[in-house]
Amino acid sequence: MEGGLITQVGAYTTLRDTLNADTTVVSYGDALISAGFIDTHVHYPQLPVIASWGQQLLEWLDRYVFPAEAAFSDPLVARDTARRFLGELLRAGTTTAAVYCTVHPQSVDAFFTEAERIGARMIAGKVLMDRNAPDTLRDSVKTGYADSAALIGRWHGKKRLSYAVTPRFAITSTPEQLEAAGQLLREHDGLFMQTHLSENLHEIETVARLFPERSSYLDVYDHAGLVGPRSIFGHGVHIGEKEFCRCHESAASLAHCPTSNLFLGSGLFKLFEALSPERPVRVGLGTDVGAGTSLSQLRTLGEAYKVAQLTGRSLHPVQAFWLATAGSARSLHLEDRIGTLAPGMEADLCVLDPHAFPLLDYRASRCESVEELLFTLMTLGDERCISATWVGGTCVHTRENGSLYG
Ligand code: GUN
Ligand code: ZN
Repeated sequence: MEGGLITQVGAYTTLRDTLNADTTVVSYGDALISAGFIDTHVHYPQLPVIASWGQQLLEWLDRYVFPAEAAFSDPLVARDTARRFLGELLRAGTTTAAVYCTVHPQSVDAFFTEAERIGARMIAGKVLMDRNAPDTLRDSVKTGYADSAALIGRWHGKKRLSYAVTPRFAITSTPEQLEAAGQLLREHDGLFMQTHLSENLHEIETVARLFPERSSYLDVYDHAGLVGPRSIFGHGVHIGEKEFCRCHESAASLAHCPTSNLFLGSGLFKLFEALSPERPVRVGLGTDVGAGTSLSQLRTLGEAYKVAQLTGRSLHPVQAFWLATAGSARSLHLEDRIGTLAPGMEADLCVLDPHAFPLLDYRASRCESVEELLFTLMTLGDERCISATWVGGTCVHTRENGSLYG
């Protein structure tokens, strides 16, 4: 690695003779080195309410999420939570994420300030929400637009940071606010767009009532110009062939969030239908914390396997690790920069220790192939398996010494 990029990939015994005399050599023994994990859907302000009991989506938002997000009007709360969140991402081996902040612009400033210190490639944006939310959490068409435009000016394209226009979902934005979000996308190059789509049956009924003139939930967003490349739709649990086709042809992506969909009882994402070779949809993997129950993509893959089992399919470990790395990179249109270990790619890595704890060590010792070892890691593994995380060619976290953020 040099200058933040990977220069060569291969066995030490073959590369050793090609290295400059001043090259630092780091050895991780028989650990596996992977591209850093990519989380395509997560809410940093919900870290304080991860593991909150007893509700499905709409009630869970009212009871736990909105009160937690209200606290982010305080920039110190935002800074402290952003630091803790980024520390947890690195501990989990995640080096890029698409992150929801809150309605408060200061929550975005806090997140990007800390992400910039690490040097990580991060995508984030201010939530837009002008109805069906508590007074203290609502913006307006005008302030939502103006605050987003100012944040885009401050952060979008700065180092490795990108801005995502972030209407929370169709229930909390008026048609006029969705139009304004579409206008922002047209006015600036390279922006992302993130929102929620067809996660929960009550949510879907509410959207149909609020937008009777639209032919589907996805059509609500499409009508506002929000469906295109770099649009990331969280969940998409209850969508059909027509929506899959529209995502395929528009190069928009779906974020598969298995721990969240199980935790809130939302339903089973049809991963193999989404990926169908006739019209493959770009699919990434999302933890969706705080509805998701872990920031670890290993644990998320373990649950993705079980969700697939319930739909009658078995997710192969190679496809699973692809989903958490190169597949997620492709879903974000970033596959030329991240998600793969190859010369010229950005040097974001994590190191997976198959001896991390006794049961893993025991089971790994019986593995006869790398595929079997990967399956063991995604089924038994979690943050304990990440012995180091590298960002832009620098080691930013070790299991022994932690990171900048503890
Ligand atoms: N739909 C709208 N907002 C949210 C959120 O914060 N989490 C989840 N899981 N779904 C949502
Ligand atoms: Zn979400």
